Amino acid sequence: MSKPRILVARAIFPDIVDRLRQYFDVEDNPDDVIWTPAELAERLVDKDGVLTTGSQRIDAALLAAAPRLKICANMAVGYNNFDVDAMTAAGVQGTNTPDVLTETTADFGFALLMATARRMTESEHYLRAGKWTKWSYDMFAGSDIHGSTLGIIGMGRIGQGIAKRGAHGFGMKVVYHNRSRLSAELEAECKATYVGKDELLRTADHVVLVVPYSAASHHTIGAAELALMQPMATLINIARGGIVDDAALAVALREGRIAAAGLDVFEGEPSVHPDLLTVPNVVLTPHIASATVPTRRAMANLAADNLIAFLGGRGPLTPVNQ
Ligand code: DGY
Repeated sequence: MSKPRILVARAIFPDIVDRLRQYFDVEDNPDDVIWTPAELAERLVDKDGVLTTGSQRIDAALLAAAPRLKICANMAVGYNNFDVDAMTAAGVQGTNTPDVLTETTADFGFALLMATARRMTESEHYLRAGKWTKWSYDMFAGSDIHGSTLGIIGMGRIGQGIAKRGAHGFGMKVVYHNRSRLSAELEAECKATYVGKDELLRTADHVVLVVPYSAASHHTIGAAELALMQPMATLINIARGGIVDDAALAVALREGRIAAAGLDVFEGEPSVHPDLLTVPNVVLTPHIASATVPTRRAMANLAADNLIAFLGGRGPLTPVNQ
């Protein structure tokens, strides 16, 4: 019997592709070419499954060109690149990679918060440019993390991880906003208090965004929300570009309406709004919150395990539709 055919749409760890070859006839992309939707569709014509990353859009047009496709296994916890309704209508299973990246991503969120509040990259650029000639009392003076108020918008697993780091490690007061309130047990574990979004924006010294992207969360933070924040506040986005109105943020940063921002994700990435590239008080990283070797391997292995389980006739391990 011939093996099911799958596409690995982006380069991943070669040994994990080899593992997939034990079960499937695999077409992979070792040179990591960014295919256009038409090039991706061409490759999916004869495939039963595909391993995607967040950068391949799976929508009705693509599904119409892939009549054999049964599963899209995303190597990411976020799956806003999937049109889940279109996939369900076409009978295509979607899966993601929750849990395996939670702690790594929470670590990064906290690192980005610290780098932003303490102006680490801005001061490093200054030093490398040979501008450091003397100590001065206010040189790169930032804001404190310990004892400050941490506001988290989006209190899923990663948000909870950040809350615990803040409350238990740095003695921060934690407030959060989420579609639904956490159980009393989880609130106690995270030492977090539920508040309305506006109250969070008005009172937090550091606002961290960890909310999934959807039409409803588009521009959760725009000019009006930035105007509510304190002038010494920082804003951290490790969720998705599109949650923040980057153009409005660049204006707020340039005009000093908030102190600083740390961004790992961008609207239209890998393009970055040109105004963000010219303001000094923003730390910019290229969507690397889950990028440690063990975590990226765990994500790739979980995506592979979903393909192996589902195309092997067992249920998907981490489904995003039913
Ligand atoms: C995710 O898992 O959604 C990340 O953003 C991809 O690294």
